[in-house]
Amino acid sequence: MTNHPSDLLWWQRGVIYQVYPRSFQDTTGNGVGDLEGVIQRLDYLADLGVDALWLSPIYPSPMADFGYDVADYCNVDPLFGDLATFDRLVAEAHARGIRIILDYVLNHTSDQHPCFVESRSSRDSAKRDWYIWRDPRPGEGDDEGGDDRQRRPPNNWGSFFGGPAWTFDEATGQYYLHQFLPEQPELNWRNPAVKAAMLDVIRFWMERGVDGLRMDVVWLIIKDADLRDNPPNPDADPDLPPNDIHGRQLHVYSGDQEEVHAYIRDIRRVLDEYEAPGKERCGIGEIYLPLARWVRYYGAAADGTGDELHLPYNFRLIPLPWEAAAMRRSVDEMEAALPPFAWPNYVLGNHDQVRLATRYGGQRQPQLVARTAAMMLLTLRGTPTIYYGEELGMEQAQIPPDRIQDPPGVKLGPSYSRDGCRTPMQWRRDVNAGFCSADVEPWLPIPGNFVSRNAAAQSEDPASMLNLYRRLLHDRRQTPALYRGHYRSLDVVEARDTNPKACDDCFVYLREWNGERRLVALNFVDRSLEIDVPGEQTGRITLSSYLDREENVDLDHLTLRPHEGIIVEL
Ligand code: NOJ
Repeated sequence: MTNHPSDLLWWQRGVIYQVYPRSFQDTTGNGVGDLEGVIQRLDYLADLGVDALWLSPIYPSPMADFGYDVADYCNVDPLFGDLATFDRLVAEAHARGIRIILDYVLNHTSDQHPCFVESRSSRDSAKRDWYIWRDPRPGEGDDEGGDDRQRRPPNNWGSFFGGPAWTFDEATGQYYLHQFLPEQPELNWRNPAVKAAMLDVIRFWMERGVDGLRMDVVWLIIKDADLRDNPPNPDADPDLPPNDIHGRQLHVYSGDQEEVHAYIRDIRRVLDEYEAPGKERCGIGEIYLPLARWVRYYGAAADGTGDELHLPYNFRLIPLPWEAAAMRRSVDEMEAALPPFAWPNYVLGNHDQVRLATRYGGQRQPQLVARTAAMMLLTLRGTPTIYYGEELGMEQAQIPPDRIQDPPGVKLGPSYSRDGCRTPMQWRRDVNAGFCSADVEPWLPIPGNFVSRNAAAQSEDPASMLNLYRRLLHDRRQTPALYRGHYRSLDVVEARDTNPKACDDCFVYLREWNGERRLVALNFVDRSLEIDVPGEQTGRITLSSYLDREENVDLDHLTLRPHEGIIVEL
């Protein structure tokens, strides 16, 4: 667990793996994964070759949003274990050189959190101002004394999960703000006592040896001081469900306010309090914003370094179609937008997104496409995050409508449900895929393909997706050009034509460090391509996404099979 002082830090050099604890490994026989299960799978993760685990929330929670509704920030939900098990997880992970990153759900608590219970108890409560309470907006007829039919929320904001972002509290006659479920009231970070309490939460976990935080919806923690109405989004899909108010607005006032950056600097200062050689702490932020707004979350200290997030999560590749030109443009734009100190990162999937094999693969060849995507994720410049099960090529599961559990799926309709990317990890061929014992029902159904798509089977198959990930992670670790090298995308031409033409069907880039050079060529289409890489003559393929060739090649006639990705040593 040491870094040479002038060397890269673990969160720059390493690869993060997201564990959704409910779905990783059940050891208690209740059909829900737990921390003991993560401990039992650490050897698998070390063998895979990841450097850090991000655990989705493990805190005591009524689980209205599966843990993103926290009732106590300084404990572990009994469903997942206890603090002693957590401490053991940290120790066991560290013993294997794996860091632990916790999910810091800072924008909202559970409505069962004692602070909200107190806040809600009366308008005079000492904690009233810890949350965002407002009087109803006056409605027509209020002059005549008002009545419930005219009662209107304080502004027009919608919840991400459907309906208004405000819930009326009958007992105290005011609305409180929640941009997710009513069970997730939003904290008032402008109140210094809230900020102090939430910064102490960070200290609690840092002192337990946690290496980093992934900050949930961190761009939302500060809202417009006057809570002004959001404007309508003129480009909104006209077919949105009627209760998708959020989807019809531009979120000008409900997040990404200028003042938020000062709060993130405060959070960063607390992380920095715990920074020590070999124990560097990493602040990751969930930020869904356009490029120019997103890049500001790195911060800009006077000394030319960053003073906010080490890694604002880069989700820009997720919504793109599986097209080489689109991917290249996004990567190049991001590279160009980064200040010199800023370290890039890439995410292709998480617990909120359709699984990448399905999203990118569609009706084509999802498993081949997923292999190329893995090669892209693990060879671009910057820190990659792998979502559990991607290394097996897990696809989006079809959840029967009567088993949908995810709140947006229930409130807005099945197409909004995230359950399909949260199904249990597929460990082996046994009933329930080795996730839980055969006599219990897993919390979400396990797709039937686990019989062949599972870690045990893939471990034995030299050409499997799992072995592709292992090779990619291993080669990346061994190759400075890949883990730290410069990045440059290349224009290539199709070599087959008599009149060579630019090839838009593949994404080709160079990674280079201290004279060590690797070329990555990714074929995005379902046909073979023969390309000419200008300025390069020969090289040696060290890895193909098909895992079946290592050979010398001419780079003026380089053949890529359908959806093949290759790494070439130059
Ligand atoms: C973002 C999380 O990733 C998502 O799963 C959750 O529902 C919302 N934040 C609310 O916390």
